[in-house]
Amino acid sequence: MQLERILQSQGFGTRRECRALVRLERVTVGGEMIDDPFADLPAEALEFTVDGEPWRYHEKAYVMLNKPTGHECSQKPKHHPAVFALLAAPLVTRAVQCVGRLDEDTTGLLLLTDDGQFIHRLTSPKHGVLKRYIATTKHPLSAAQLAALSGGVVLNDAPDVSVAAHAVEQLDDNQLAITIGEGRYHQVKRMVAAAGNRVEALHRVAVGRLELPADLAPGQWCWIDPSQV
Ligand code: URA
Repeated sequence: MQLERILQSQGFGTRRECRALVRLERVTVGGEMIDDPFADLPAEALEFTVDGEPWRYHEKAYVMLNKPTGHECSQKPKHHPAVFALLAAPLVTRAVQCVGRLDEDTTGLLLLTDDGQFIHRLTSPKHGVLKRYIATTKHPLSAAQLAALSGGVVLNDAPDVSVAAHAVEQLDDNQLAITIGEGRYHQVKRMVAAAGNRVEALHRVAVGRLELPADLAPGQWCWIDPSQV
C-alpha cells in the first residue's frame, strides 16, 4: 500500500495532509526516513514513526482505556470532557467509538474501536457478554441484598421483568463484585438501589475474558487483540 494511504488509514489526516507529512520528512519506516509518499510498503504490522512517535499499522483499532472519573462516553459531552480526549489523536481521527458506555463517575475498563461489527457483537443483548464490576456501597451489605441481586430485582423501566446478576460475591462489608450480562442504563447502580442499598463508587474490572491490567493507570490506554475479549 502507498505510504500516504497507510498514514491516512491510521488516522494521520487526509491524503493530502499525509502526503505533506512524508514530504516534510516527518515519517520514518524501520528507522529510516522516507520522503516518497507513494512508496509501496506492506501495510500489515508495519512499524513507523510520525514526528518521532512510534506507531504500528492496525487494520482496525481495538484499544482499552482505564477510564478515570470525570469523563463522559459521548461524542458530545455535556458536563465533563469526553473519554476521547484521553486517546492519541490518530485514534480520534479514526473515529473510534466506545463499546457500550460507562457513567461519568464509573471507572475502569472501557473498550473503544472503529470496528462496528465488534461493537455490535459485544453490546447486543443476544450475546450477553459478561461484564464484571466492583461496587462500593453506602451501607453495609446484607445477605438479603446479595440474595436479591442474584435472585433478580425489578427495575423501574421494565416492571415486568426481573433482572438478575450472573454472579455476586461480597468482598468486604461495603464492597461486592457483580457480574452482569446485559448493559441497561445505570444497570448496576439501579440493581443495587432496587436491592435496598446505594452504589458510591463503581469500577469495571473485566469485559468477557479481558481483564483490566493492574499496570494500566487511570487515564491510560493500550492496544488489545480483539480475540482476548
Ligand atoms: N452500571 C452502572 O450503573 N453504571 C455504569 O457505568 C455501568 C454499569
